[in-house]
Amino acid sequence: MIQKFDDLFQVPVYRSPVPNWSTTLKSDFLNLVDWDDRECHAGHWFDPVESSQDVCAYTDYYKYYDAGVQPDYFPNLLKILRQPLQEFQQLHPGSTVDNAWCQRYTETACHPAHNHGAIGYSAVFYAQLSRGASPTAFFSPVADPWTGQIETIVPPCVEGDIIFFPSYMIHQSLPHRDSIDKVIFSFNLSKSQEQILI
Ligand SMILES: [Fe+2]
Repeated sequence: MIQKFDDLFQVPVYRSPVPNWSTTLKSDFLNLVDWDDRECHAGHWFDPVESSQDVCAYTDYYKYYDAGVQPDYFPNLLKILRQPLQEFQQLHPGSTVDNAWCQRYTETACHPAHNHGAIGYSAVFYAQLSRGASPTAFFSPVADPWTGQIETIVPPCVEGDIIFFPSYMIHQSLPHRDSIDKVIFSFNLSKSQEQILI
């Protein structure tokens, strides 16, 4: 009798709400980001199609993460994300976070499909996600055997959720379709070589 292996390969993805985010933590924390910093409005590839000097997407990825510098909000971000981070680290002992970045999407801004490499896990925290906004879209790492098409899934995350996914997964931020900006904080979780070999 033919037998199907349902669990031959799986992609482990985790989601957790961040306690009290929208009700008490959000406004104070978002005020820690210098949204007017011109270095973070440098006309990057995910800017709105019709971008101007005044309406621009924000990313501090290049100023901080790419330069190996922690943004000032980093310790507070870890504090706010402590519970889901601890739960994730119990499932993946030895995984650590050493930096993060923030992106703010104005209307029509997007982030093309990409992955973060063979690092470990990556995370996206949805700090501001209005009802009209879309969370991250993920591409299946395997194609449909009959058509070759790559399935895309948008996990139903809401504002205040954090999602953890393997860094190798291809994902994108679809063009933002809302007048309320979408704001995310993102980071990678890695392990030391010693931890991986254990
Ligand atoms: Fe990403």
